[in-house]
Amino acid sequence: MGQLSLHDVRKSFETFEVIKGVDLEVRDGEFVVFVGPSGCGKSTLLRMIAGLEEISHGDLLIDGKRVNDLAPVKRGIAMVFQSYALYPHMSVFENIAFPLRVERMAEALLRERVLNAARILHLEERLEQKPGLLSGGQRQRVAIGRAIVRQPKIFLFDEPLSNLDAALRGDMRIELAKLHRQLKATMIYVTHDQVEAMTMADRIVVLNAGRIEQTGAPLELYHKPANTFVAGFIGNPRMNMLTVTCAGVSEAGVAVEYGGRTITVPVVPRAVQPGETLTLGIRPEHVEMGAGDLALTLVPGVIERLGAQTVAYAGLGSEGVAFCAMLAGAAVIRVGEPVEAGVRAVDCHLFDAAGQAFERRVELTDIDLDLLKVTAA
Ligand SMILES: Nc1ncnc2c1ncn2[C@@H]1O[C@H](COP(=O)(O)OP(=O)(O)OP(=O)(O)O)[C@@H](O)[C@H]1O
Ligand SMILES: [Mg+2]
Repeated sequence: MGQLSLHDVRKSFETFEVIKGVDLEVRDGEFVVFVGPSGCGKSTLLRMIAGLEEISHGDLLIDGKRVNDLAPVKRGIAMVFQSYALYPHMSVFENIAFPLRVERMAEALLRERVLNAARILHLEERLEQKPGLLSGGQRQRVAIGRAIVRQPKIFLFDEPLSNLDAALRGDMRIELAKLHRQLKATMIYVTHDQVEAMTMADRIVVLNAGRIEQTGAPLELYHKPANTFVAGFIGNPRMNMLTVTCAGVSEAGVAVEYGGRTITVPVVPRAVQPGETLTLGIRPEHVEMGAGDLALTLVPGVIERLGAQTVAYAGLGSEGVAFCAMLAGAAVIRVGEPVEAGVRAVDCHLFDAAGQAFERRVELTDIDLDLLKVTAA
């Protein structure tokens, strides 16, 4: 078992509160990813779970047992860092075996554990070499091997792939996903990388300044962000945020006005007065050439041709508000030449003055079906 509960967990460094009350339940075998801007407390929270950092307030439970004061080695947790921290004078075998040597494990069992980890990580041929001879990805696998041999209930990863180049990162991402399936252990993973978070996580926890902004499955956060922070953080390029005026509320949703044009966003209506300022969220990938429910006149300033897609950084309307659109690879657009684009009302997000989302009338199951339809087409 590797079930984890955090109840109002806080951390202060002297008078500076870094973790400001975190509540979180992680199920046994779940893969949870922490994301958030630099300095928001991801590593601190992970280190508190590992026992490397004292918990100032609140309770940390593993399988229902309070472990706040339990020594790190007794928590059944293994942590893998960005820096591999391997011993250069020891062989790969001894590096992996190190935590078992510390435990004074019998040689036969130790060998079995190390060889098993090496097999899982494709390091069998490297066991007698020194880490200096290995590539970055292989070194990181040795560090992961050192975690595996301990057979922890919970693995903690702090940006383990960020020192690797893009191709290797992609390979390791797939290896880690396989490893998770194979070991069925609970994993908590910190990353800056959107793609890692979206593809590896059962659930993503979005942190901001020591608090959880939202917790949910990757597509839940993408389609139903709770607020402007999560909406801006999940998705790349970032969601466009337009300042709009409420034009009325009906059963169909909330009508908003932008640049003399009106669109009814199909959200669950709630008390909001005509004339109030709201924020309309439009993801770049939802902008289409030609008219949509809301027409957008864009003047591209910078155009990035990626092959499969074209990303246009444009000015919107007469004021030239910064706006990003992700269009088809072959989109016929030129720098400085206005183009008519549009967005469907059903793709829009709406936020109140405090940045809280209006609930979208979109069922995730519907979206999943839509996705299937698109892929099949
Ligand atoms: N030992 C410490 N003493 C004082 N402040 C600390 C200490 N460790 C971390 N902090 C502060 O706590 C905050 C959170 O740091 P943390 O390393 O957890 O952020 P992070 O989300 O992991 O950031 P990054 O993405 O850059 O790794 C920062 O403001 C940092 O300066
Ligand atoms: Mg960190």
